[in-house]
Amino acid sequence: MSSTQPPHSLLLGATKGIGFALAGRLGAAGHRVTLSGRSQESVDGALARLRHARPEAIFEGLILDLGDHDATRHVLVEQGAVDHLVLCGSSQGAWGPFETLTMAMIERAVSMKLIGYLNAVQVVVPRLAGEGSITFIGGTAARAAMAGSVGIAAVNGALEAVTRSLARELAPRRVNLVSPGLTDTEAWNVMAADEKARLYASFTAKLPLSRVGQPEESADAIAFMIGNAYVTGSILDVDGGWHLGKA
Ligand SMILES: NC(=O)c1ccc[n+]([C@@H]2O[C@H](COP(=O)([O-])OP(=O)(O)OC[C@H]3O[C@@H](n4cnc5c(N)ncnc54)[C@H](OP(=O)(O)O)[C@@H]3O)[C@@H](O)[C@H]2O)c1
Repeated sequence: MSSTQPPHSLLLGATKGIGFALAGRLGAAGHRVTLSGRSQESVDGALARLRHARPEAIFEGLILDLGDHDATRHVLVEQGAVDHLVLCGSSQGAWGPFETLTMAMIERAVSMKLIGYLNAVQVVVPRLAGEGSITFIGGTAARAAMAGSVGIAAVNGALEAVTRSLARELAPRRVNLVSPGLTDTEAWNVMAADEKARLYASFTAKLPLSRVGQPEESADAIAFMIGNAYVTGSILDVDGGWHLGKA
């Protein structure tokens, strides 16, 4: 990053949810933000909302599907210098009881999130500033030992392990992971409204902080990981205390 240029943050999977909240936050903080989504429509919509809210900030867009590894490489290799890379895209959860989970479901989740994130990192690393950072979004399922979460635990647990190894290997570039708990994003709109309300109520009853998280709270944690030059190989839980387990 030159002293006259704003830092460039590349957010992969940020047309909605936590990534979108982060885009607004970083734009307000003076970053040049490039965000991605899978369609022209979703990217254009996100850019329009961000530019309307923050006309002074610089927002650009890319179209890529993290599950399409070759196409992702073709898109990212065209990117110039990057100061901060954030991996926030998600579409394949592989939730469900282990005995009915198919290996194809696990493969799709691993391909989209674990391999999808690593594939993108490998292309961007040569363009990443020496003092730059990479932040993964994992998830509490990595350690929550919850029935029905084996598929997503496999992905998020692996990302936690990868974070520590990559932080060692890529230093002085920093590598961290933010681990959200249940967070009120568009991701849950795949459920019927009453089913989602029951899910939120059950978590509200169980969590030490007695509520579901907001995307801005995870975005806040990612902004901290990006901004603190002495934090690497770290995992920050933003989950209302879910990782503490039962009292
Ligand atoms: N929400 C939660 O409760 C929760 C809990 C724990 C962990 N997380 C993790 O937090 C991260 C963000 O989740 P979120 O809740 O913010 O999700 P979200 O609201 O559903 O947003 C997902 C974002 O990812 C993009 N995306 C989806 N599939 C993609 C793909 N195959 N390739 C590239 N981009 C893709 C979407 O863009 P387009 O639709 O425009 O393509 C969208 O911008 C994910 O890693 C998720 O696993 C979320």
